[in-house]
Amino acid sequence: GLDALLAGLLGYVLGSIPFGLLLAFAAGKGDVRQIGSGNIGATNVLRTGSKKLAAATLLLDLLKGWLPVYLAWILFPQTAGFAALGAVIGHCFPVWLKFRGGKGVATTAGVCFGLGWPFGLAYAAIWIGLLYFTRISSLAGMSAAIAAPVMAIALQRWDLLPFLIAIAALILVLHRANISRLKAGTEPRIGSAK
Ligand code: G3P
Repeated sequence: GLDALLAGLLGYVLGSIPFGLLLAFAAGKGDVRQIGSGNIGATNVLRTGSKKLAAATLLLDLLKGWLPVYLAWILFPQTAGFAALGAVIGHCFPVWLKFRGGKGVATTAGVCFGLGWPFGLAYAAIWIGLLYFTRISSLAGMSAAIAAPVMAIALQRWDLLPFLIAIAALILVLHRANISRLKAGTEPRIGSAK
């Protein structure tokens, strides 16, 4: 209904704020799309050399995913899934950047915490765990994205499952260049020179 559409739209508008791009510009680091992987996410902002900027990007991208889901949850609980999908689509396809945005990993972390602590916890545990052991951001992010719908199955949350499957599929598709690099063994690790 209309409430689902509004929740999705709220998610999209908040999700489409390209914090990584804006913060890097504001800090005088130039256009983050011109460096590293060209992505606007925290991992690539880290490649500007600023840990603070990367941390701020991560936090704000998380918050913009969490907020619309949380608001939807309070106002119309049955629309939370639409707010969630809207936020990730907004981050990945922002109208302001000719629909060329990020890959959705941090925003989905926020979305998962908005949907409930078991989702946030599952996502964060896989993400942080794999990041710690592999130092490969894309691998950790894609694995976390898959953990979310798996958790929905475990909890029999059939209402949220389609949304979390759609988000995971989107994240995987947007990582196709990363997947090629992973197969070729050339995907950079966090903290390594290139
Ligand atoms: O969130 C994006 C991350 O999974 C990969 O980023 O810049 O290494 O392609 P990047």
